[in-house]
Amino acid sequence: MGLLLLLLLFFFGGFIESRTLHFPHGAETSYLTREEHWFDQTIDHFSPTDRRQFRQRYYEFLDYHQDSNGPVFLKICGESSCNGISNDYITVLAKKFGAAVVSLEHRYYGKSSPFKSLATENLKYLSSKQALFDLAIFRQYYQDTMNAKLNVSKVDNPWFVFGVSYSGAMSAWFRLKFPHLTCGSLASSAVVLAVYNFTDFDKQIGVSAGEDCKAVLQEITKLVEEQLSSDGASVKQLFGATMLNDGDFLYFLADAAVIAFQYGNPDVLCSPLLDAKKNGDNLVDAYARYVKDYYLGTFGASIQTYDQQHLKKTALSEDSGDRLWWYQVCTEVAYFQVAPANDSIRSSKVDTRYHLDLCKNVFGEGIYPDVDVTNIYYGGTKIAGSRIIFTNGSQDPWRHASVQTSSKDMPLYIIKCHNCGHGSDMRGCPQAPLNLEGNAEKCTSDAVQKVRQQIINHIDLWLSQCQDTGPDVDEPDWLGRMVM
Ligand SMILES: *[C@@H]1O[C@H](CO)[C@@H](O)[C@H](O)[C@H]1NC(C)=O
Ligand SMILES: *[C@@H]1O[C@H](CO)[C@@H](O)[C@H](O)[C@H]1NC(C)=O
Ligand SMILES: *[C@@H]1O[C@H](CO)[C@@H](O)[C@H](O)[C@H]1NC(C)=O
Ligand SMILES: *[C@@H]1O[C@H](CO)[C@@H](O)[C@H](O)[C@H]1NC(C)=O
Repeated sequence: MGLLLLLLLFFFGGFIESRTLHFPHGAETSYLTREEHWFDQTIDHFSPTDRRQFRQRYYEFLDYHQDSNGPVFLKICGESSCNGISNDYITVLAKKFGAAVVSLEHRYYGKSSPFKSLATENLKYLSSKQALFDLAIFRQYYQDTMNAKLNVSKVDNPWFVFGVSYSGAMSAWFRLKFPHLTCGSLASSAVVLAVYNFTDFDKQIGVSAGEDCKAVLQEITKLVEEQLSSDGASVKQLFGATMLNDGDFLYFLADAAVIAFQYGNPDVLCSPLLDAKKNGDNLVDAYARYVKDYYLGTFGASIQTYDQQHLKKTALSEDSGDRLWWYQVCTEVAYFQVAPANDSIRSSKVDTRYHLDLCKNVFGEGIYPDVDVTNIYYGGTKIAGSRIIFTNGSQDPWRHASVQTSSKDMPLYIIKCHNCGHGSDMRGCPQAPLNLEGNAEKCTSDAVQKVRQQIINHIDLWLSQCQDTGPDVDEPDWLGRMVM
């Protein structure tokens, strides 16, 4: 994702309301609530002596929570400002299960930063591990608050966690690390595997594009590379990206194509390019039109997101999310979207060195991701969790960082259709611009509805098992063995 992952969140609970994504229309109606609540959170959960705290923002939506013992859905906000509880498919699920919906902003993002300066030294408490602990503390705090309101004690509502993309990974990891705090998890397009050289990402773009569109994209990359070496200024000008250095520019151009597949709008990209090819038009011009009209226009991406000069800015601002996410990339998860050795779409200059140099340039010497440690901590694709539903969109390049094998306790579903991308189960098709209530009518197959039915079945089962026996009690034969 480089940045893209970020974008994702925007939609989901402000899923990656990425710093770069702004819905052009209907912002108000896209949320169930935007009323802010606050609570005091610990800055460092792993120090026994550091008691410093910061204010963390959260939201609650109680309209469907008719029965005080009813479920609580925790919608995890990921790597972006969390501006409310967005009105996607979770609305439908909450209505169906009579659930309260609560959402906690991820530490450091939006208004939940412990520090005003985001200098590298101050970012050391920014990690998924700390953020999961935040969720655990919040879950307990919120349960206690609910109980106090109702003047009851020792009541524990059944909780269920939800997330898409990075927050999808967090949703799975939360169930893994704090199984006693939730009855189950939906991990939509969850990027649970930290990957150093994520070459499958570019390969998937080729598969999603199809041979013809892929070939045109490759031709464009070659033409742009040639123009960069002969007259760099004018080709950057064409894309309105004169402020970017060559590496950042090539990364930006690659990302612009990715977004079409990731968010379920493949034809917006491929149709005009294939037409241009057929008519013998200038391909770079045609691509520049797509980038400016769709990626920067309709979709709302911003070029500065790709500018390392921008990423270096340490003053907390509305655009800090880019820097923050890169810090997580550069320290924990990598997902470096490098060009594969053969048949790549993106320029071969977007390589491992480019990413490592970015980490060093933006954050300083010694900042690079130790993905092995991350995968040891969580298990990567071998995550040993339970009661987690994993879903993947067939066109989504991120799916290769998701879980690979299905089991009874961790079922997985691939949602297959021409425009099924990142988080299609929660957001429908296409995901950008956002459809209210994750409308699935425009998905090119009924795969989304079918997977949603499975999701409902699992939530139903796990919530009822949880009410009977508590969140962490499993098969009876296991219990039998324990007591014998
Ligand atoms: C709360 O419950 C306790 C025990 O049932 C009762 O004594 C007390 O009066 C209640 N307080 C309120 C404010 O309802
Ligand atoms: C990543 O790719 C680079 C360049 O091809 C290579 O030198 C390096 O060994 C790779 N690292 C891993 C962990 O695969
Ligand atoms: C490189 O990619 C092309 C096109 O997909 C394929 O035909 C060829 O076999 C690949 N070569 C290698 C060495 O993988
Ligand atoms: C996600 O996609 C990968 C790659 O196609 C696949 O191996 C894996 O089984 C999928 N995972 C899920 C959760 O659908």
